Amino acid sequence: MAYFPPEPFRIKVVEPIKMTTRAEREQLLAEAGYNIFLLRAEDVYIDLLTDSGTAAMSDNQWAGLMIGDESYAGCRNFFSLEEAVKGIFGFRYFVPTHQGRAAENVLFSLVARPGVFIPSNMHFDTTRANIEVRGARAVDLVIDEGLDPTSRHPFKGNMDIEKLRRFIAEVGAENIPLGMITITNNSGGGQPVSMENIRQTSQVLHEHGIPFFIDACRYAENAYFIKLREPGYADKSPLEIAREIFSYADGCTMSAKKDALVNIGGFLAMNDEQLYQRACTELILREGFPTYGGLAGRDLEAVARGLWEGLDENYLAYRLAHTQYLGDRLLEEGIPIVEPPGGHAVYIDAKRFLPHLPQSQYPGAALTAELYLEGAIRAVEIGSVMFAHKDEATGEMVYPELELVRLAIPRRVYTQSHLDYVVEKVVTLYRKRESIRGLRIVYEAPYLRHFTARFERL
Ligand code: F0G
Repeated sequence: MAYFPPEPFRIKVVEPIKMTTRAEREQLLAEAGYNIFLLRAEDVYIDLLTDSGTAAMSDNQWAGLMIGDESYAGCRNFFSLEEAVKGIFGFRYFVPTHQGRAAENVLFSLVARPGVFIPSNMHFDTTRANIEVRGARAVDLVIDEGLDPTSRHPFKGNMDIEKLRRFIAEVGAENIPLGMITITNNSGGGQPVSMENIRQTSQVLHEHGIPFFIDACRYAENAYFIKLREPGYADKSPLEIAREIFSYADGCTMSAKKDALVNIGGFLAMNDEQLYQRACTELILREGFPTYGGLAGRDLEAVARGLWEGLDENYLAYRLAHTQYLGDRLLEEGIPIVEPPGGHAVYIDAKRFLPHLPQSQYPGAALTAELYLEGAIRAVEIGSVMFAHKDEATGEMVYPELELVRLAIPRRVYTQSHLDYVVEKVVTLYRKRESIRGLRIVYEAPYLRHFTARFERL
């Protein structure tokens, strides 16, 4: 029996959500071109589109908003945030940004250019786009188990150290301005990276004089996975584990919209003073002065408080068990998911759910559309719509290994009965899976097409 942990909080404010009829959803989805990004949120009952920016803030964070200092320069909330960033991540310098991709934008404006490569375990889509839009190449070197939805490897997000060594030898360290690792590995099922692997990645990059940056969005969840699964960490606090993780790195990009439990915010941190100075120039041009970086003072305060709360052991134990509950219930019903469940999301394996649909018919997107029609549930495709691309040399379409539908779980938002409802609807769809048809793209943008693409049902 799947275990649902009791919440380590109680509910003080509620937000009504409403149900639509199947007929209404048929019409709404057709109007949205079968793309769930183009729906109105109020037409969704359970919104599992993302865990990003969707957390319920605590009373302490809301109280923090009231002491927002909206001075242009040197506001007090910047210093609360500085205390949290230095206390947890330990980097010498940081700049706030309005969200994670803004940190990526600032960083890659300084280091990415045609002819260079940025290796990672797996880049998230905005990271990849921020690299590739500048003519550089984003390269994924995750371990093979990370691409096998049925492998129960405890750290499926790990970098393949041998692949990394070979890659550096092949393209030359001088063409790699930095290496990255994403914790947890969102594009690969929200899977964690082990401390040992972070240490080894750091070592290999540093042997070649290559700086090491961490995409840190879900670092607290990753830290708790290390505590649960990696020998030697059971008695360490999430804070101690986080400090050790970042001690191996030269900097990080952070979307505070995940593990900092806020609705907006992020930062870019680093040890290199020169890089910091160049980042400040870029930041002033695009985000704002270095003590607010595109955020209101009150938002900085919510991030600062959220960073500490996000490391609370009771919260993290609940958080990972909550996600696992959804995964275990789906497994009990025979639904093919990426195993084991990730930290922030459960990923349905659309290739195995809809084996009759080839990737050219977008099984992940088709399943996402059906979930909305069946239960007003919004999930997101992480598959061919997001990642398939034309090979420049051959002109052939290259499809990603994984074709997933992500059920991302907002932090502190949904209860056990909400998750049970989701299980019921997924199971209903699974029973009639053979009747589900594929999709055809009728409009797409040149970059990040999944956000705005329009489809027709085949
Ligand atoms: N890196 C990772 C691993 C992410 O998951 C995200 C965002 C970002 C960077 C960019 O951060 O949204 O604040 O600009 N992921 C969200 C998601 C959008 O739904 O997984 P951002």
